[in-house]
Amino acid sequence: MSENSQTVRRFEQAFADWLGVRSGFAFWKGRVAMYAILKALGVGAGDEVLLPGYTCVMDVNPVKYLGATPAYVDIEPVTYNMDVDLLEARITPRTKVIIAQHTYGYPCRMDAIMDLAARRGLPVVEDCCLALGSTYQGRRCGTFGAAAYWSFQWNKPFTTGIGGLATTDDADLAGRIREVCDERLRAPPRKTGLMLAAQRIVYRTLVYPRTTAFATSLFRWLTRKGMVVGSSSTREFRPEMPPDFFLGMGAGQARAGLRQLCWIDSNLAHRRRMKCLYDELLAEAGWSVAPTDPDADPVLVRYPVRVADKARAVAEAPAAGVELGTWFECPLHPNETPMHLYGYHEGLCPLAEQACREVVNLPTHPRADEATARRSVAYVRRIGPPEV
Ligand SMILES: Cc1ncc(COP(=O)(O)O)c(C=O)c1O
Repeated sequence: MSENSQTVRRFEQAFADWLGVRSGFAFWKGRVAMYAILKALGVGAGDEVLLPGYTCVMDVNPVKYLGATPAYVDIEPVTYNMDVDLLEARITPRTKVIIAQHTYGYPCRMDAIMDLAARRGLPVVEDCCLALGSTYQGRRCGTFGAAAYWSFQWNKPFTTGIGGLATTDDADLAGRIREVCDERLRAPPRKTGLMLAAQRIVYRTLVYPRTTAFATSLFRWLTRKGMVVGSSSTREFRPEMPPDFFLGMGAGQARAGLRQLCWIDSNLAHRRRMKCLYDELLAEAGWSVAPTDPDADPVLVRYPVRVADKARAVAEAPAAGVELGTWFECPLHPNETPMHLYGYHEGLCPLAEQACREVVNLPTHPRADEATARRSVAYVRRIGPPEV
């Protein structure tokens, strides 16, 4: 085995050990990890995959690439997760898999989802792309379902530039994921790996809460010009698999992941403190902050907050030096998604649509501190909470 492959294997195993499961498989992106899991579970033409109607289109593409049909479930308004009470009614004889996405890092009600899935004989796959470190009933998200997938893209809980991982504790499923990889997975081109390494340096040096808005616009512009390794290409806004989709993780990404694992505890502790601080500051500012489910200990990738005028909040944030996120702009984020091609039509998930109109999100990452939180809350206070 080459030295690069050994580095990737070390990261896979280190991450699986941290999570407390047997196997990890590293990929170019989280969406590729999701594709590998679904393929290993035998998802194909004629099958349905259940997802929350409040997600990213990149999370729906793998379902479409396999010829299956996504079926959307509306969300709970507090956690933004799939409403478990609506889930059973969406199950049909064609349902093959339930995707439990832990949105923003709020854990899904995994006891209820696992009970229902067991009763109906369905595998659950956890989308942990936003939920590194979150726990439910004292267990880490990512250890409940048959498998889980993770994203290490720029704005995720920790970053390898871009990157993703599939994890499972099921030896049989691990064998099938390995077969899928052995059959088709290709290494990323060397030039792309080097460009990504350069981007990681720029990111570490220049991207802070006050510079994020400028950096994001510049990054998107450079992506369109093909001058940087982008997070998504325009071809990914169509439900057909691009030729360079099924790529593994490069050694540079794996090394970055191993470094991130060294300080994961302080990263997660910081995010927990930021959540408590936002809870407090927003409650003081007049928002009704719902108490967290006592079974859940969320680690938030971003702190979601509803505002009276989202368009204004987003437009004025850069000038105010506030790092304001727009997730999720529409049920299949972002707004460019041609939703009819993905089987979503307006009115399917009304609570998700309302959340898309109202929710912006604030930074919890380690480069944001108490002053960032105070400035961010003072800013959203100017916009105000939505009228009820
Ligand atoms: C909830 C969710 N799942 C999956 C993904 C896919 O992750 P990646 O960008 O690493 O492919 C994303 C983001 O793109 C996401 O927000």
